[in-house]
Amino acid sequence: MKKLLVTHNLSKTYVQTQGFFSRVKTNIHALDGVSFSINQGTTMAVVGESGSGKSTLAKSLVRLVKLDKGSVKFNGIDLLNLEGEGLKIARKDIQMIFQDPYASLNPRLSILQIMEEPLLIHNFQDADARRKKIEDFIGRVGLEVSDLKKYPHQFSGGQRQRIGIARALILEPKLVICDEPVSALDVSVQAQILKLLKDLQREFGLTYLFITHDLRIVRHVADDVMVMRHGKLVEEGKTDIIFKKPKNEYTKDLIQSIPGLISKRN
Ligand SMILES: Nc1ncnc2c1ncn2[C@@H]1O[C@H](COP(=O)(O)OP(=O)(O)OP(=O)(O)O)[C@@H](O)[C@H]1O
Ligand SMILES: [Mg+2]
Repeated sequence: MKKLLVTHNLSKTYVQTQGFFSRVKTNIHALDGVSFSINQGTTMAVVGESGSGKSTLAKSLVRLVKLDKGSVKFNGIDLLNLEGEGLKIARKDIQMIFQDPYASLNPRLSILQIMEEPLLIHNFQDADARRKKIEDFIGRVGLEVSDLKKYPHQFSGGQRQRIGIARALILEPKLVICDEPVSALDVSVQAQILKLLKDLQREFGLTYLFITHDLRIVRHVADDVMVMRHGKLVEEGKTDIIFKKPKNEYTKDLIQSIPGLISKRN
């Protein structure tokens, strides 16, 4: 299988000053020598407690966070040293879906404008072709063409996340980074969005990096899983193997804490 993303030794330290007058500085090792790879067309889940560095990892891959150290190869290209046109192409190929679709959708823009924005940035000149693409993608995520003139506040949380997904996919990226894409949603809505993400993956051959703190979701969506703790990768492997035979104590604890798991086993 082809490796779409290969990272080596990703490291990021945040320096925090404590208190207003204090000169005490603490180093937070948000990422500490993290190396992993993702096969094309598969889903890699990232799990770990709050503060373990999951979002820092995600943001570093779309260059929202500048790494101190490490390398990222995307499709064989050195991602972190890209500039100009090369960077623009890579940016198109790696998109992100966020936890809170309300915060990530500009409330002043209509859905049409929200979906048109990435196309304009990436020089889709032909207005008719843009419109066609937007109508195609709004349909693919289960919304109507008539929804395009509405604004984010006119939708439910689940519908907003559908819009977030449509916006992320309209440039037909290769890698989609999903940072807790369903944790703000009701359980029944979660299932619909997860199904949508799976269907779209099959259709477009997408590769997902899927961040979640919910191990039940991991079992449902992920081929592989990596477990993070205090910025370090403590365990990585095939999802079914990690669930059956976790090596690391921390992974064992995480799996033990899944609600309903014990009763299912007995
Ligand atoms: N901009 C920042 N400045 C300083 N410290 C930060 C910054 N962003 C994150 N951190 C710290 O880095 C660590 C990792 O944060 P990160 O957001 O990556 O964790 P996470 O695993 O995504 O957590 P959560 O599950 O709560 O979303 C935390 O200790 C966090 O407080
Ligand atoms: Mg996070």
